[in-house]
Amino acid sequence: MHETGTDAMELRAEAAKLDESDVLRDKHAEFAGYGLDEVAYLDGNSLGALHRAVPGRLAEVVEHEWGRLRIRSWDESGWWSAPERVGDRVGRLLGAAPGQVVVGDSTSVNVFKAVVAAVRIARSGGLAALDGGSGAGGGPARGGDSDRDEILVDAATFPTDGYIAESAARMTGCVVRPVPAGDIGGAVGARTAAVLVNHVDYRTGRLRDLGGTTAVAHAAGVPVVWDLCHSAGALPVELDAHGVGLAVGCTYKFLNGGPGSPAFLYVRRDLQPRFDSPLPGWNSHADPFAMASGYAPAEGAARGRVGTPDILSMLALDAALDVWDGVSIESVRAKSLALTDFFLRCVAAYVPAGLVESVTPAAHAERGSQVALRCPDAGEVMAELIRRGIVGDYRRPDVLRFGFTPLYTRFADAERAARVLAEVLTGGAAEG
Ligand SMILES: Cc1ncc(COP(=O)(O)O)c(C=O)c1O
Repeated sequence: MHETGTDAMELRAEAAKLDESDVLRDKHAEFAGYGLDEVAYLDGNSLGALHRAVPGRLAEVVEHEWGRLRIRSWDESGWWSAPERVGDRVGRLLGAAPGQVVVGDSTSVNVFKAVVAAVRIARSGGLAALDGGSGAGGGPARGGDSDRDEILVDAATFPTDGYIAESAARMTGCVVRPVPAGDIGGAVGARTAAVLVNHVDYRTGRLRDLGGTTAVAHAAGVPVVWDLCHSAGALPVELDAHGVGLAVGCTYKFLNGGPGSPAFLYVRRDLQPRFDSPLPGWNSHADPFAMASGYAPAEGAARGRVGTPDILSMLALDAALDVWDGVSIESVRAKSLALTDFFLRCVAAYVPAGLVESVTPAAHAERGSQVALRCPDAGEVMAELIRRGIVGDYRRPDVLRFGFTPLYTRFADAERAARVLAEVLTGGAAEG
């Protein structure tokens, strides 16, 4: 039901109160400037906002470390070890103890490394030796190494993962079998060589059961590769606690690393000796400067490296991560759920019934940090929203996406977005 002006005033007043009592409210100022306050920026699930520490730090890196120290910076400025050092900072937000995350390359490239490595692990004894399960007694069937010829891929996956899994499958003599993420537990079997799942569906914002899916696949000896692009920095992932084997994700969404900032690769510590990378570059060599003709893999997270790291982007990300000092991912999750709940309430209050339909689960346990609304003409509606200062995005054919980044999104942004959405959908005269 379309609310009256009085109700709108109440929702605005409630937003103001929620913003005032928000434990993360001071974080907003670290992103302010650059026009962030002029819009409701709800596209941090695509590209995070610029943190104020980044421009100055990047200028210093360019002018001093590159400009003056030049090649000395590989050692003296810590450039060489930045992938593992920044990896540990990202790892803290993923519930990963130090030494298991390396930053570099794109998510697409890391999906390739992880999926091929997963197949190789599955075919060389699987996870049995490490995870201790036998698969007997009613557990999922275990395959012999040579029987494993299927890669199960989240049927709604972000496209790059599917394309890369397809190529990885051809290279390893497997086939890809698309399976709805919720059914993967039941589909894992003796033929499964690897599983690839998006932790949060990029289109609907649905959060998948990371712990349950991992446990079932591992009991069958099969590594799962989790794509954490839409959960890293948005909610607790608890990689170590869930015994996840392999995970990848990007840093330019909820981690605010900047356009094209390097991705991450997590390899569980006890799996690292068995991580057989399909892209063994000189950076992951045990002794890179020996310039040996034969490859010998490095120990630890560095085994996931390939070539020379992208230092400017990596150090922009490093600076952006300062905002997390003293911030718990649990507090971010609590605010994310409060924001998406409040936005959904405002949409229900302002938008006449039937004009949009939420495809984001109502249950907290199944919701990421975005709200997706199905709406005819989503492209035109979003273009008009952006003209009116509400910046989200849309996915064809009919999904409006609104991302909520608790470090800088305010309840007032959620209220304003829902109100302007109602005006756009009902032909309201917001432009005056
Ligand atoms: C879930 C998911 N996986 C993978 C990617 C691709 O990442 P990249 O283009 O950085 O390789 C994206 C990009 O948005 C994504 O959302």
